[in-house]
Amino acid sequence: MNPIKVLLVASEVAPFIKVGGLADVVGALPRNLIEQGCDARVILPLYKKIKQSRTTQLHFHGWRMVKMGWRSLYAGLYSTVLDGVTFYFVDNEYYFNFDQVYVEYSFDIERFCFFQRAVLDFLGEFLQFEPDILHCNDWQTGMMPLLLDAQYRTHGIHSAMKTVFTIHNLKYQGIHGIDTIKDFLDLPDRYFSDDSTLKEGAVNFMKAGIVYANSVTTVSPTYAYEIMTDHYGEGLNDTLQRHAYKVTGILNGIDDKEFSPSDDKLIPATFAYPHYAEGKAACKAAIQHRLGLLVNPGAPLCVMITRLVDQKGLDLFLRVAGEMLFDGMQIVILGTGDVFYENALSDMARKNPTKMCASIMFSNELAHSLYAAADIYLMPSLFEPCGLSQMIAMSYGAIPVARETGGLKDTIIPYNEYTGEGNGFTFANINAHEFLFVTKYACDLYRNHKEIWAGLIRQAMLGDYSWNRSAREYFDLYKSMYESPYADRGEISPEEPHSEQQKMEDSQPVRISKNNKDDKKIK
Ligand code: GLC
Repeated sequence: MNPIKVLLVASEVAPFIKVGGLADVVGALPRNLIEQGCDARVILPLYKKIKQSRTTQLHFHGWRMVKMGWRSLYAGLYSTVLDGVTFYFVDNEYYFNFDQVYVEYSFDIERFCFFQRAVLDFLGEFLQFEPDILHCNDWQTGMMPLLLDAQYRTHGIHSAMKTVFTIHNLKYQGIHGIDTIKDFLDLPDRYFSDDSTLKEGAVNFMKAGIVYANSVTTVSPTYAYEIMTDHYGEGLNDTLQRHAYKVTGILNGIDDKEFSPSDDKLIPATFAYPHYAEGKAACKAAIQHRLGLLVNPGAPLCVMITRLVDQKGLDLFLRVAGEMLFDGMQIVILGTGDVFYENALSDMARKNPTKMCASIMFSNELAHSLYAAADIYLMPSLFEPCGLSQMIAMSYGAIPVARETGGLKDTIIPYNEYTGEGNGFTFANINAHEFLFVTKYACDLYRNHKEIWAGLIRQAMLGDYSWNRSAREYFDLYKSMYESPYADRGEISPEEPHSEQQKMEDSQPVRISKNNKDDKKIK
């Protein structure tokens, strides 16, 4: 069999440009897919930072004019190869020559309309790559399955191509008025006459991705289940339930080349299980010294590395952080985000200089040093599609305290005092004091029950968080789509219901995971 050809499309891809976990995933997955036997490539916008820092590595393929309503716009195509993976870049300075990835809401909608149209126009001859699977990620690429149907497959172009749409975070949906989107994307009225693309009267890119993709995935089995419910569904739970038959949860992995405590150039002392104690202690002392904390080997060092947004449970943290400090914990927070959280955390750190540090910045080097130094890693997220940092923390012997949601629930086994099983601590409710009590319990074990703590570290550090398992699941999904009898249909597959009535009637059990035999029926 020829290798399955996959093109991943995303707005951010590490190591080129990163805002959040999406970049890490789209940066690491293709390499692992290639190991599974796929021909996996990636395409993203050519942002200013990439253009400036990689000038000599970028190869120019050519350019095209891409239609956007009444305009024709230049789109250049560049590529580079990194670690055996081909990365393509879409160039247009008006849209992408910015320091930031995301600039302003309405403008971002326009920028990613352009990006999606340019990628589709490039496919095939110009790109010299005709993927079997077009793998879209988050709202910035959510209109591509629909555009593929509307403007290509119906004309017999790319008719064998299948689409996967991965939801990394359902909260961000890409919403705009019908008239503007109709103009940017040159779509006929019929796409806006039923509610397959509309939510509350506006075009919703996330919804269109869910409805029109041949397959939808999310980044953990628990999140796949949660987003079908009112509480986590962000208003799209009904849509997801109707399309449950094609929704799968596949857990992310972490890049073990980038994150390995035994071979990490960015940390003061490397370490590996079982001889971790000395190296970890050296990393902890170094960070306490560097950040002006009391250099005390016995103080539980609690770390959070996160975007400072409400999703991450920062309100719970702020409510009880004073009591945590009073209890003798040291706390370090690294990240940027909402000004409210930046100020609140900085204020608290200023008042407790030897116990707490708030580094309001983005620093990969400091992040590595903190994972290596931490005893406890805090993650009280309100929701967490997957979360990567709890897995990174565990592999560095930092024990997570997290809320039981999404990927946190799927990766953290709460400590069981009867069996000794567990690699972390969890709490169920969005309740600051539940978070506090579990963290205090963890600190008590850290201080007074060294053998139990050593057991937690063993299970955390020896866990397998690599991409192998997940890449295999994506590969199996691609393969099942590739071999589907509807390969050259040139229209929405028969399994895709058309009328809303039919969609309601066809509501099927959700496939939570290939590995999970207990299919759950959502009513
Ligand atoms: C988003 C989610 C995070 C997930 C990441 C990668 O950033 O918030 O939970 O790990 O995407 O899929």
